[in-house]
This record gives sequence, structure tokens and C-alpha cells, in this order.
Amino acid sequence: MINLENTALFKDKAYIDGIWKSAQNGKTFVVTNPYNQQELAQVSDFGPEDIPPVIKAAESAFHIWKKKTAAERAIILRKWYELQIEHAEDLARILTTEQGKPFPEALGEIKYGASFVEWFAEEAKRVYGDVIPGHGEDKRIVVIKQPIGVVVAITPWNFPNAMITRKVAPALAAGCSVVIKPSEETPLSALALAVLAEKAGIPKGVFNIVTTTDSANVGKVLTDSPVVKKLSFTGSTPVGKQLMRQSADTVKKISLELGGNAPFIVFDDAVLEEAVQGAIASKYRNAGQTCVCANRIYVQEGIYDAFVALFTEEVRKLKVGNGFEEGVEIGPLINSKAVQKVNSLIDDALEKGGKIKLGAKSESNENTLFQPTIMSDVTSEMKFAKEEIFGPVAPIFKFKTDEEVIEAANNTEYGLASYFYGNNMNRVWKVAEGLEYGMVGINTGMISTAVAPFGGIKESGNGREGSKYGMDDFLEIKYLCFGGVQ
Ligand code: SIN
Repeated sequence: MINLENTALFKDKAYIDGIWKSAQNGKTFVVTNPYNQQELAQVSDFGPEDIPPVIKAAESAFHIWKKKTAAERAIILRKWYELQIEHAEDLARILTTEQGKPFPEALGEIKYGASFVEWFAEEAKRVYGDVIPGHGEDKRIVVIKQPIGVVVAITPWNFPNAMITRKVAPALAAGCSVVIKPSEETPLSALALAVLAEKAGIPKGVFNIVTTTDSANVGKVLTDSPVVKKLSFTGSTPVGKQLMRQSADTVKKISLELGGNAPFIVFDDAVLEEAVQGAIASKYRNAGQTCVCANRIYVQEGIYDAFVALFTEEVRKLKVGNGFEEGVEIGPLINSKAVQKVNSLIDDALEKGGKIKLGAKSESNENTLFQPTIMSDVTSEMKFAKEEIFGPVAPIFKFKTDEEVIEAANNTEYGLASYFYGNNMNRVWKVAEGLEYGMVGINTGMISTAVAPFGGIKESGNGREGSKYGMDDFLEIKYLCFGGVQ
């Protein structure tokens, strides 16, 4: 069980049209704690047959919500933000229990998540249009922006709170209604957000949560529906591509935040201690389970030995364990499948000549506590160079020249986040412009914030979340051409 001050935040039913609902066939699924595999809840397991009424509810609510003034929507969103801050500790308790990340990090995610709601409550009032000089004496042209309609948000388990608010806040601010499908690993954080959404005054049908283990079939009904105008997905590249294909027949607008393979480059002129701390922050956040985690660490030959030595010394201090235990900085991986994947990447590197400097493979796939691990003598032939690790393993590559490392860093189908440390101003610009990524951290390992446009290029997806750009994906542009003006 989860120890909460406000027990009303614990829900185990889907939230549809303002009602907590079971699946029509009464099915439920079990949610467990990834640290000790203890059962936390039996949650409504919706099937494809449960979805049409959800879409209908969202459609009806859209026509009411879009008519509210921007200021009215802003007040409700602000209230939702305030409630999230008021209940931050309980939301973080739910998050640590179902996802595993250490409690201080979970609290950080709740505040990060709430910051999107605060930001878009303000942006709601700034959906400006345009006036364009007409193309004839009698012509006047005005551009307006309107909410796109019913939005589907499919969100991952690694950020059970913030990936919902980052999609839903701009959608609601724009005047859209939403159907959210959280990961089956972490539905409780999503349902707690619904409790607060209702309390904040978000009208019934505007904010719906479908809980399910049948993601493929439920996703198909959602993407097939012509009523759903927009899909926003965060998750793996293969699933993103599948959703993109499924959305083609109804020509939906889509935003995809998919996999990453972030290079983290340390040049000879970097400040060593800062580069080490940046690498730790980027690599080991959420036990390495973020799309923007450093995946490949490239260190220039002149600083390589010093970097590996200090990085190893500092990573050795990281404590792994129960996210509620004092001082724990790395929680469990989400499940045994995740452990198996990371183990197999280490095996591949060992077979090809890689060396473990610190840590080790997990001795059993059932043990979700994975020691922070560092591997040296890593080469581009190893799977580490190509695949997203999603675990606390840092492979370190050596390089000689700027050109060589830019080419290696870009040699991937992914293009989400990248990082580098260095101080020569010419090089800083050259490398920043040369990296084929949507986001570049320069002398920092932490780039995520509500005020900047988060998103990728290449097969890491499209669309931007957060910032002044984050609203665009939920709006349609319409131009009004007035003729016959005397
Ligand atoms: C992600 O891993 O998908 C999101 C990470 C972030 O927002 O920083």
C-alpha cells in the first residue's frame, strides 16, 4: 500500500466523463512496486469495446470547453497547478512507489510536471492571431488560431506525471479535450492527477484517463477514430512509427517524442570536475531511464584518463536501493525485461573487447537494482553505440579530433538530446551547429525545463513540447479573407 496524507488521491478506476469507471467486462490488472514487486493496486483494464463512449464524451466536452474564454481556462489550469504543488509530497509518494525513482527525484518530477501547467495557464492568454496586408484594394486578411479538437495523449512509465502535464496542459489551454492513456506500469500517478483536475474544476469529459494493458488494440480504436484530431505520443521509436502509420488514414496531426541515443562529448579544454558532474546528472537521472540520458560518452584523448578516473570515483559514491531510503540516488529499473536488455548490452560489449571499470551485470534479471556501471574500451561496433541503453551503464569512447567526434555523434538515426563540454568559443559554435539533434546542452547535463522547446529530429520524432512553441501543435491556423471592402 501507499502511505498517503490524502488517501483520496489513490484511485484504481479509469476516469471517463467525470466518472470513475470499471471496464465493461470487469477486468483489472495488477500494478506492482518495481523495488519489491509488491502488489499496489488492481486497476480497471479497458478493452477496445470501452473506447467509443470515451471518444464521444471527449467530443461533447470539447464543444463546451472551447467556448470558455482563455482567461477562464487559465484560472482553472492555475488552480490545477496549485493543487499539484499543495499535494506534491503525496504525488511523489505515489510516483516513487509505482515507478521506483528516489523520492527527492520524484518530488522534482512533480514540480517539473506542475511547471508545465503553470506555464500553459499563462500561455492560454497569448494565442495571438495576425493581420496581413491584403492582396487587393478591397481585401483584408486576418489569421485566427482555433483548438484542434479531441487530443489523444499516450504517455510512458519513466515520467508518469510530467509527460502527462507536458501534453495535457497546452491542449487544455488551447481549448481541446483530452483522452490520456498512461503506461500500464504507472497508471496511479495519472489517476491522482485526475482527482486534482476534477477538484480544480476541469469540466467532465475534458480530461479522461483510459487505463489498459491492451495498448495495441485500444490505440488502434483511438487512432482510427476521425473524431480524434491529434495524437501526442512519448515512447519508443517502433511504437511511434506504428502510431504514425495508423494515424495516416485520418490524417491526424501528430507529435512524437521517441527514442534517443544522446552523445555526451568532453573536449580537452573542458573543466574536468564540471564535465564529470554533468555526465553523472545526465547519465544516472532516473537510473538511466530517460530519453535524454547520456547514452554514449565521448572523451578527447588528452583528458580521457583523468575523466575516467574522476568519473569512476564519483559514480562509486552513488547509492542504489529503495527510493524511500535516505541517500538513495538510484532506484530500481522498471522490470526484469529492462534488466535483461541492459545485461545483454553489457554482454555484447564484453564479447567485443569492452572492459568494466565499475559495477557489474545484474546477476539475475529478477533483481531490478542495477549497480551504476562504467565501461571503457568501447567501440562503434558495439550495440552501445547504436541502441538506447535505458539503464545506469556509461560506455566511454575515446576520440581525437572535433570532426571525428561530430561524425560519430551524428552516426545514428536518433536526434533528440546531445551534450558537450568545452570552452573554446569557435569550437562551441561549430559543434553546436554541427550536432544533428533537437537539443544541445553546452557545459550542462540538465536541459529539461518548461520554458524551452523539448523535442527531437530524425527518428526521434517531431513537434515541440513546452515553451512558447508548445501550444502550436494543439491549434489550427485559419485565415479569413474579407473581400468587397469599399
Ligand atoms: C523523457 O525521457 O521522455 C523526458 C525527459 C525529460 O523531460 O527530461
